[in-house]
Amino acid sequence: MATVNYDTLIPNNVNLSTDLRLQRALEKWHPKFLNWWLQRGPTDFQTNEVYLRTAIGVDRGNWAKFGFVRMPDYRWGILLAPAVENRKIPFGEHTGEPAWQEVPGEYRGLIRRLLVVQGDTEPASVEQQRFLGHTAPSLYDMRNLFQVNVEEARHLWAMVYLLHKYFGRDGREEAEMLLERTSGDEDKPRILGAFNEETPDWLSFFLFTSFTDRDGKMQLECLAQSGFDPLSRTCRFMLTEEGHHMFVGKSGIERILARTCQVMNDAGISDPTDEGAVRALDVMDLPTIQRKMNFHFSVTLDLFGSEISTNAANAFTAGIKGRFHEVDIADDHRLLNDNYPLLQYENGRFAVNQVPAINAINARLLDDYIDDCENVVTAWNKTIAKSNIDFALSLPHRAFNRQIGSFADLNVTPAGGVLNDADWAAVKHQFLPSREDLGYILSLMKASLSAGSYASWIAPPKNGVGGKPGNFEYVRITC
Ligand SMILES: [Fe+2]
Ligand SMILES: [Fe+2]
Repeated sequence: MATVNYDTLIPNNVNLSTDLRLQRALEKWHPKFLNWWLQRGPTDFQTNEVYLRTAIGVDRGNWAKFGFVRMPDYRWGILLAPAVENRKIPFGEHTGEPAWQEVPGEYRGLIRRLLVVQGDTEPASVEQQRFLGHTAPSLYDMRNLFQVNVEEARHLWAMVYLLHKYFGRDGREEAEMLLERTSGDEDKPRILGAFNEETPDWLSFFLFTSFTDRDGKMQLECLAQSGFDPLSRTCRFMLTEEGHHMFVGKSGIERILARTCQVMNDAGISDPTDEGAVRALDVMDLPTIQRKMNFHFSVTLDLFGSEISTNAANAFTAGIKGRFHEVDIADDHRLLNDNYPLLQYENGRFAVNQVPAINAINARLLDDYIDDCENVVTAWNKTIAKSNIDFALSLPHRAFNRQIGSFADLNVTPAGGVLNDADWAAVKHQFLPSREDLGYILSLMKASLSAGSYASWIAPPKNGVGGKPGNFEYVRITC
C-alpha cells in the first residue's frame, strides 16, 4: 500500500481503521502528543504558515508534497516502507528464516528497549532546538529547522506506533514516558547524553544535524536490517526523511565556511587564527568552528556505546539489530568465528588488536560512522580550499573527550596524544569551545526574517527547497 490515507485523524499506510483497538489507543495518545508539541516543541511561530513537506506516499521518488501549513496542523502519521515479499532474516542465528511479522516472545524485552531508546532521541532533539526559530539566520533556514522538527516528531510517532501495536500495556506506558522525559531535565532527562546537551545557537544546530543526525542514520540503518519486519519497514521509511536533516547540517556548515572565507578575503585577512580580526567582521572564525566540531563529534561518538558490547552482540545474534549495510557484507552474517580489528590503548600506546567480531558490533558501526563523517569534512574543506584560505578542519581522534567506552579514562588530544592529568589541564582549553567562544557565537544570533536576507555569518543557499528559490518567503512571518 504505497499511498497514505489522509482521511483519518492519524494519516497512515498501515490500514489503521481495521485495527480499532490500536486506533483508539493512538487517538488517545494524540492529544498528549499535541500538548507535548505545544509545550516543548518550537517556541512561538506555531501560528505562522511554514512551507513544509509532508509524506503522501512511501515509494522512492515523489513521496512528499510541499505546502504551507501551521505546525500544529502538520499531518503526523504512521508510514512504513513497502513490505518486501518473502523477506528473510538477514543475519544472526535465525539467518534465512522468514522475517517475523510479530514480536518473538523471547526477544520482547530486547526489542522494546531498542524502540524506547530510539524513540527517546526523536522528541529530545525537538526539545533541544526549540528556541532556535527566534534567531533564524533566514526564512529558508527557519523553514528547514521546522521541517527537521516536525519530522523528528513524526519519528516519535513511528516508534510509538510499534510500541502500541506490538507491546500492549507495556508499550502504551513506554509511549507515555516518551512524552514525560525532557531533554536536559534534572529529574527526568532523556536517556542518552548527547540528547541532554543544549543546542543554543545555529552553529550547534548545523553540527548536531551533521553529526548527531548522522548517528541517527547509522542506528536506523542497523534497525532497518532487523528480522522483526515492522521495525525494518518503519526504519526504512524514516531513513528517507533523515537524509534531509543531514543535508541541512552539512550545507549549513558549508555556507558558514563560505561566508567566513569570503569576508576574510574581502578584508585581506590571510591568517585564519587571527580570531580577533575575523570576529570583528561578524563572522565565525575557523578555529572556533573546529573546537565546536570537536565537541559535537566526540559527544556523538559516545552514543555508539562501548566498543565491546554484549548487548550489541545479543541483538545481532537474535537477528534484531544488524550491521551497517548488513546485506552487502561478504561474510556468513553470523560472526561465529570472525575477528574484527579494534583500536585499543594498552601499555601506553594505541594498538589495533583482533577481537571476536561478534563482540565488536558497536566498534564496527563506529568505524562506518567515522568514515561517513570523514567524507563530510572533506567536502567542507573543499569550500575553504576554494577560497585559498590556509586552514583545514579535521575530525578529532576517536579517543578525544570520551565519556563512554574504552577511552573514557584517558586524556587524549584531537591529534591522538595521550597526556597525564597535569599536562592535560594545561592544554585542554585549546580543543573545546571556551565560554568566550560560545558567547561570541551567541552574540551573532540575530534573526534575519525578511525573504532573501541572511545573517552576517552565513552565505545564501545554492538552491531553495521544494521547487522554490532561496529568497522565497518560506515562513509567513506576518500572518
Ligand atoms: Fe529522527
Ligand atoms: Fe533526524
